[in-house]
This record gives sequence, C-alpha cells and structure tokens, in this order.
Amino acid sequence: MKDFWKNQLEKNKKLVFLAPMDWYWDSAYRQAMKRVSPHIFCVSEFYSADWLIHSKFLADSVLPHNEIEDPLIIQIFWKDPEVFAKAAKIISESKYNIAWIDINMWCPAKKVVRSWHGSCLLINEQTAFEIVKHMHEATHLPISVKTRLSFDWNQNLIKFVQWLENAWASLITIHGRTAKQAYTWRADFTNIYDLKNHVSIPVICNWDIENYTDWMKKIQNLDGIMLWRASFWNPWCFIWIDQINDNKFIEKTWAIKENFIDWIYHPTLNEILKAMEFHAEKLNETKWEKKWSLEIRKHLVQYLKNFPWVKKYRKRLVTTDSIENTTLIINEIKQEFSEDLNKRPSLNEIEKKEENL
Ligand SMILES: Cc1cc2nc3c(=O)[nH]c(=O)nc-3n(C[C@H](O)[C@H](O)[C@H](O)COP(=O)(O)O)c2cc1C
Repeated sequence: MKDFWKNQLEKNKKLVFLAPMDWYWDSAYRQAMKRVSPHIFCVSEFYSADWLIHSKFLADSVLPHNEIEDPLIIQIFWKDPEVFAKAAKIISESKYNIAWIDINMWCPAKKVVRSWHGSCLLINEQTAFEIVKHMHEATHLPISVKTRLSFDWNQNLIKFVQWLENAWASLITIHGRTAKQAYTWRADFTNIYDLKNHVSIPVICNWDIENYTDWMKKIQNLDGIMLWRASFWNPWCFIWIDQINDNKFIEKTWAIKENFIDWIYHPTLNEILKAMEFHAEKLNETKWEKKWSLEIRKHLVQYLKNFPWVKKYRKRLVTTDSIENTTLIINEIKQEFSEDLNKRPSLNEIEKKEENL
C-alpha cells in the first residue's frame, strides 16, 4: 500500500491532482470534477487532526464519499506528532475507505502560522520529521505532504524534503511560492525541478497552472501537477492529449475529441451547462437545502466565467436557493442560447446579444 504512488505513476505516467480548497471542497464538487476527469486525485480541504480525534461527528461528516471520488486523499493539519498519529489511525481504521493522508505544511494564514501549524513547520524541521514518522508508524496508508518553496527563503527546500523522505513521506507537493509571499508573487518552479534531482519520492508542482499546454511547459522532470482555480471554469482542464486519443478513456468522460484545440480542451456551452446541472444535482443529494444554496452559487458563477453575455442570469444564479430554481435558470439559458449550445465560449464563438449587456 505504501508504494501506491509507484503503481499509479506506472499506470498514469503523470499524477494529476485537484488541489485542496477550504470552503469549496465537498463531495458534489469532487463528483463533478471526477465525472469529466476520472483520472484525477482529489485532496480534501484541511481538517484539524485534533478535531478529528475528538469529534466523531466531524469524521462522520467529512470522510464519507461516493465511490466515483476514489481514491480519496484527506488532508489534516496540527502541530503535535502524537495528535497527527491518532488522527491517522482514526482515518485509516474508519469504514470510509480513504486512500491516503496528506499533511498541510502549506497554510500561510497568520493565525495558523502563529500557532505553529501549517507552513510554520517549514521552520521546524524536527517537528515536521516527527509528524511524518509518527503517522507512518500509526497507519498502513501512504503519507504525503503539501508545502511551499520555503517559509521566507531562509530554509533549504532540499534538506527539508530529504528529512520528510527519511521519515517515510511517500510524495511531496510543492507550491511555487514561499509562505511569506502568501497569495502574491509569480510562481517559480526552478527550485522544485532541482529538488527532484535530490529525492526519490514523487514531486508534484502547484500554483497557477491553467491548462494542458501550460502544465506541459511546467511539469518538466516532475511527477505530476496539482491545480485548482483553472478547474472552476473548465473541469476538463485536467485532460491531456493521450487521453483524448484513448477510446476507453473517452467512453468514461463527457469529453469530445473535436473540442481539444491546440492541446487545450474548450468545452461547449452545452457541456458547461451539463456540468452545472450535474454539480447541482450532486449537491442536492448530499447537502441540506440552506447550505446547498450558499455553496452552489460561487461554483455556478465560475462555470460561466468564459461566458460574459449572460450577466442577467449571473445575478439570478448568485441568489439561487433551490435545485428547482437553478434548473429553471439553466433551462432559460439553454432556451435563449439554443443556437449556440454547441459553440465554445472560450473561443469567442458565441456572438454578443446586446439585450443581455
Ligand atoms: C480559498 C482557498 C482555500 C484553500 N484551502 C486549502 C487547504 O485547505 N489546504 C491546502 O493545502 N491548500 C489550500 N489552498 C491552496 C490551493 O490548494 C492551491 O495551492 C492554490 O489555490 C494554488 O493553486 P492554483 O493556482 O491552481 O489555484 C486554498 C486556496 C484557496 C484560494
């Protein structure tokens, strides 16, 4: 089980991850992404290891999932190795078939760093080492780590990851900025390429990867990519060209070969609307009504990012409060743009309709 990664790499050539996202990540979103890109791995938003060991309710709300989401990765954060180990045991012994556990050494938020969690572990190599080691001893599941280039450029990335590898980390994801740079600054993967030459575990890069062309440029000697924002408006952004020519793969997804232009998948309006419908249906199946309406709104608007002509629908989508209302709006869009359903908004194939501006 611990060399799960190796088997996956042999099968998939490169590993592709949907990044963890606090507030955005739930079973419905994962199902919507896996419906069109069945090969991706989904990493959960971060959960407190301490909460997990003290709250059965939390475990029973965040670990259950649909089998389409497998293999599912659960990300946890905290600072004490013993707490991490207990949480790892709970996750691996649960009935929910979790595939592996990821440790958050990524989060740059002030309150997280001040309390010695998240990216703060980059300046506490010994604790970081102990965390991975304790977890490795507590569970048969593989342990991976998501972290950053460094905390403030004063740490040595290669040494840090070698420590984690010695503690039996199985895979590392590096976000191409330091914790101090937080959400600003361009991505710089140079140090990540160099890291790969000094460790034997798979190395995944993350930050600002848009689509297949972009990730082919950035992946270089690395083992995979992790992305999030791009998937918001194009759930097909995870697909690569070999898969488009693989009929078995095509049967599993909604992808159409013709929409793969210049190595980028350009979904049609109809495909985007279908993805919205599917996402809404899954959310309706998994969440209670009030929470449902709040959570679907941000997704619906993002799906239509390449479709600026539907402003009037956008306003209604951000206030939708039921599956019926959402379906009604989507059907109205379909009706108004019935001639444009097979056109690709990202290629500007749909002409402006003045009355909607
Ligand atoms: C709202 C939000 C929530 C996030 N939550 C998490 C999280 O829980 N765990 C984590 O490791 N990274 C988290 N991230 C970081 C993302 O996983 C990812 O590293 C970042 O968005 C960069 O990738 P992208 O450029 O493809 O979006 C979050 C980012 C945002 C904007």
